[in-house]
Amino acid sequence: MSGPHFDLPNERRTRWPWVVALVVVLIVAGGAAAAWALTRPITLSVDGQAQTLPAGSTVSDIRKANLLKATPGALKSVKGSVIQQTGGKPPTVTRNGEPALAKQRLHNGDRIVSTVGADVTEKSVTATEAIAIVTENRGSGPVATVIETGTPGVAEVTRGEVSHIKVSSKVVKRGTPMVVLLSRPKSGDKLVALTFDDGPYPGQTDKILDVLAAKRVKATFFMLGGRVKANPALARRVADEGHLVANHSLGHKNLPKEKPVEIRRQIKGGASAIKKATGVQPVWFRPPYGAVNGKVWTEMRALKLRVAMWDIDTLDWTKPGVKRIAKNATRRVKPGAVILMHDGGAHREQTVAALPLIIDKLRAQGYTFVTLAELSEAK
Ligand code: NI
Repeated sequence: MSGPHFDLPNERRTRWPWVVALVVVLIVAGGAAAAWALTRPITLSVDGQAQTLPAGSTVSDIRKANLLKATPGALKSVKGSVIQQTGGKPPTVTRNGEPALAKQRLHNGDRIVSTVGADVTEKSVTATEAIAIVTENRGSGPVATVIETGTPGVAEVTRGEVSHIKVSSKVVKRGTPMVVLLSRPKSGDKLVALTFDDGPYPGQTDKILDVLAAKRVKATFFMLGGRVKANPALARRVADEGHLVANHSLGHKNLPKEKPVEIRRQIKGGASAIKKATGVQPVWFRPPYGAVNGKVWTEMRALKLRVAMWDIDTLDWTKPGVKRIAKNATRRVKPGAVILMHDGGAHREQTVAALPLIIDKLRAQGYTFVTLAELSEAK
């Protein structure tokens, strides 16, 4: 039996499985090593700070994790003002000194540096807009009436999409103005109307009523709905003593600045409070501050109001002293004049004290005191 002769093929048969096993082991080990390398967290520098991230992380993952120190750029208006500090482009990122894309995968030892993102300017949008009707006054006098309603113009306006700042505007169609006729009674009769605004005000309106009663003078009171609600008995006394009860709105807002629905609410609110307290539906209206524009006129017309301003501002609200108020009221008086005073708004002792002087002085000049309604009806 010569063993070696027979052993050779035997050895060959037994060596092959070892090689196969070795290869299999190497493949499995290599695969495991590769898999381990792929799932192993990576360590890198982000803006000078060491960070550990899951394997396979990208530049965009760093952004999402808020690891970048630089902020996005600003969102700017068409005029260059900042609308939103971080509303622009995201920070710019470099990886190892080269610009990095958002989807770029990161590797161990990478050096990531961010810089502030680019600013973005909002878009411009062009649209047609109505041009507000302008009002034009004709004539002179305290009674104001609209004689032409006017038509709005049309403009093509370019604005910032976010800020609404106007960039440019081109008139497409011209409008026509609303024409307000200011007038006074035509007769040369020496009539004068005293008007008191912003009441009723306890301790003041009642004193003014006492003076008017003692002097047998009828006047006009432009009341605020809010004051009437707080002092209904005082409002009723004004009406009961024969004075003209008129509307000065609900809460003394500057009406041209309000939306039409609020303008209407202010006017109707004043009127309904007055009607409730006094039983009188006021026809005459004086806008707070005498402030009007096309919008306010549209509402006043729709409510069929008679609108009264004034000729003579006594400036009693500046508290210039009793003598000064009396002088302001009388020195430029003329037939048909409407005199503005205040029984509310603040302390009016000076107005109360000046009133008898004013009445005596004008009476001495031959004037008769009437309400606004009587003044407007005088031929
Ligand atoms: Ni007022």
